[in-house]
This record gives sequence, structure tokens and C-alpha cells, in this order.
Amino acid sequence: MNSIWINSIQNKNHFESLSEDVKTDVCIIGAGIFGLTCAYYLTNLGYKVVVIDKFGIGEKTTGHTTAKITSQHGLFYDYLISSYGEKFAKDYLDANENAIKNIKDIIDTEKIKCDFEYQNSYVYTTKKSELKSIKKEVSALDTLGFNCDFVTKTGLPFEVEGAICFKNQAQFNPLKYLLGLCNSITSKGGEIYTYTTACDVKEESGTYITYTEKGNIESDYVIMASHYPFINIPGFYFTKMYQSTSYVIAVDTKKTLFNGMYINNTSPIFSFRTAKYEGKNLLLISGSDHKTGQPTSYQDSYGILEDEARKFYPDCDILYRWNTEDCIPLDKIPYIGVYSNTTPNMFVGTGFKKWGMTSSNVAANIIVDKIQGKPNKYEYVFNSTRLKPIKNMDEMKNIVVQSTNSLLLDKLKRANMNFDEIANNSGSIIEVNGQKVGVYKNSSGNIYAVKPICTHLGCLLSWNDVDKTWDCPCHGSRFDFMGKNLYNPAFKNLEIYNLED
Ligand code: FES
Repeated sequence: MNSIWINSIQNKNHFESLSEDVKTDVCIIGAGIFGLTCAYYLTNLGYKVVVIDKFGIGEKTTGHTTAKITSQHGLFYDYLISSYGEKFAKDYLDANENAIKNIKDIIDTEKIKCDFEYQNSYVYTTKKSELKSIKKEVSALDTLGFNCDFVTKTGLPFEVEGAICFKNQAQFNPLKYLLGLCNSITSKGGEIYTYTTACDVKEESGTYITYTEKGNIESDYVIMASHYPFINIPGFYFTKMYQSTSYVIAVDTKKTLFNGMYINNTSPIFSFRTAKYEGKNLLLISGSDHKTGQPTSYQDSYGILEDEARKFYPDCDILYRWNTEDCIPLDKIPYIGVYSNTTPNMFVGTGFKKWGMTSSNVAANIIVDKIQGKPNKYEYVFNSTRLKPIKNMDEMKNIVVQSTNSLLLDKLKRANMNFDEIANNSGSIIEVNGQKVGVYKNSSGNIYAVKPICTHLGCLLSWNDVDKTWDCPCHGSRFDFMGKNLYNPAFKNLEIYNLED
């Protein structure tokens, strides 16, 4: 289901596809918030830009986020200080605080009507046993000289044991913001093409060629803003990040809602904010995160959020449900900078770990400075070619185990269902004439069969019964039941089988 953000702009996020070869200064692959912010700053500086996207503007991660604009990225600053030191943590914080101001400046300059409003942001706990970690974070923020408050009262409709409050954070409608950026970009000569898939980028004598199925783009610079980078070598981003799926519900209630944006600090994660939509003030609840490709159920994804909504707002109607994917770096720091040491004029911004509203602005400023040859004081924090020891060993083990399991399953495990056992409206992997086949039967019993092998690096896909998609447990690519690629790093569709052959 579409998010309220995508519904609110009524299909105005579609541009024509590329239809011929073009030349430009900067080619930007991806028209989400990061790609379009780069394009906005670059066109203001007089650069020619071409932006392409496989889907409509902001149609994937940006269009399905909760759109909190905050430097409060969960409980994070104690981790940063203990792993990387005070200066590093302070620069991460300042970069993200600046991003809030930068976004507001763009909105004011371009007069973008995107329901922007300042809100306080809170990380809370309802458990006494978790108070220690909240207080540790407060003390880390004190060390950094950041003015936050420890509070025991919030606007939430339940008691908390304690919370950290960041003042003057914000929320908005991200798709209305993107359309405002698009207006500015195109008014300054920037070109935007949607439904145009980049398949490869190659450097030839100092010039980059971005290949698409509809024409090629020649440019001096390339910015990879495609959520998960789809070029495997160089860069090797598939070894450094995994993807996490999270779910959102939009709830209508007659009760008065609260001010503020909230997230708790332990599993199950619940995140709350309000949002204006069609004259109503809706409550957004998100959470139920899991590594993409791991099996889930309706109850474990949307159900748990709906139960939470009904617990405090028994009269409520659940109006919308949606989900999204985020790239999570193993060391929890986004990758921003050159794509690799061998591609000096090709850049990347990825791994925003669910905090993409501010991270995308930080990334755009760093990349635009790099294109201009200007130093950026925050660049070192997000160094995209870093080779530091991984601090987050639990995540490292997790990704290795998941990837290895999937590859082994592909080789060793026999499909355990036969065709007739698959119920209507569900999917499974079966064997037909010795070959694995991913089969989905719709509610009328019609069959859709695909080769269930990821077109990225060949992992065995798993069936997602909530969304009716084929999901990859290795690096999080997703495909619809007809094999159409929905999320990177894979960009090719699945092979389709005709079972009557
Ligand atoms: Fe990498 Fe599927 S996403 S193998």
C-alpha cells in the first residue's frame, strides 16, 4: 500500500523517461531525498545535472519513511564517544543539527508547502531496567555540550520511566518537499527522468558513462544515490551493509493527539509522530523492524503496531499501512564520499540507517563540496572508503550467518512443498523437474512462477507472505510476485517460468 506521503501528491512525482543519449556535468542516479538535494545545491551553483530514477520521485525509501528530521538517532552518542571519541561524536551531532537548519532554509527559500513543523524529539523507556542506558546517553550528550533534557513526563498516552528530549527538531511531508526541490531544479535547467533504470557506470578517458536501457548519460561526475549501491566492484558495499524492513500504520482517532516525536530504546521498537493528511491529524506508529529476507507474519509486522494503537486509542481506525527498507552499515556510520579509491569523480551516499532526512542533507553537502574541490569538516566522519575495525561485532556475525545460510540453503535444502500444497494467496519454493521454482498462487488460484535466485549475487530468495514479495536475506533486494525488482542492490528482474512448458 502507498504511504500517505505518496497519496498526498496525487501522482505528480512522474517525469518522462530518458529517450536519448545526453551529456551533462553531473549524473545523479536516484531521485530520493539525497539525490534531489544534491541536484538542488548543484543547479544553484550553476552545474548542469541529470537525475534519473528507476521509479517515480521519492517512490521508494523517501516516500515510505516516517520523515522525522532529527539529530537524535536513537541512543547513539554514548556509542559514538566510546567507539570513536568525543570529537567524532560532536562532529556527527553538529553535522546532523546543521542539516535541520539547512532543510528549513531550503523550505523558506523555495517557499515549499510541506507541512514542516518544529517538534521536540524523544527517546523514551517504559522499563526501569533501561533507565541506566538513557542516563548514560544524557551524560554523553552533556560531555558534547549539547543541551538536551532528561524528562519523566511526555505527551505520550502512557507513563514512561524516563526520556531524553532534543528540542527544535522537526517533521514534514517528504514528498511535498521533494516536489519543491524538483521545481527549483528544473527551473534552473536541471533534467529529471523517471522510470529510467541505470544498469552500469563506466569511466572512459576521465568521462563517466551511465548506461540505461533508454539512453546513456555522459558526465564529468556521477552521484550514486540509489539507496543501496548496485555496482558491486569497486566499492564492495554489499560486504558492509544489510537491509532492514520496518512497518508504518497511519491511525485516525477522535482523541486529541500529542506533540512531539518519540521512539523507544528496546525491542519491540515503537516510533510515534503525528501527520497532517486530508484535513486530519493522523497518528503514525512505526516499528516491527527485521532484517530483510527473514520470515515475518502479519501479526509480527503490522499487527503489533495495530495492537499498540488500539491499546491507547480504542476508537481508532487504521487507515493506511506501508513498509520500507533501510540500509544499515555494520559500524552504524553512513558511507558518504567517493564511491571507491579508484573512482575519484564518482560519489556515494548510503547507509543512512533509518535517519535519512538529516543524513541525506549531510551527504549532499559533503558531495557538493567535493565536486567543487572544497574541504568539508564533517567528511572524515562518514569516510566512504574507511577500513576501520568493525566495532559492531554482533551485526557482523548476524550478516555473515544470514548470507551463509542462504547460500547453503540454495545448495543443500530440498524444497519441501509440492505444488498442490500451496494455499491460495500464498507462496513457496517448490521443485519442478529438479529445478527450484518460486510459486505464488493468488486468491483466485492463478499461478505466478519465478526463478527464486537473487539477480544480485545469487542467494536463494525467501517468500514474504505479508507483502507478497520475494526477499533476499543476503543484502535485502526485493522483487514482486511477478519478479519485478523493487529494491536494490539487484536491479534486474527475476526470470519468469511458464510452468506449462
Ligand atoms: Fe545480494 Fe540478493 S541482494 S544476493
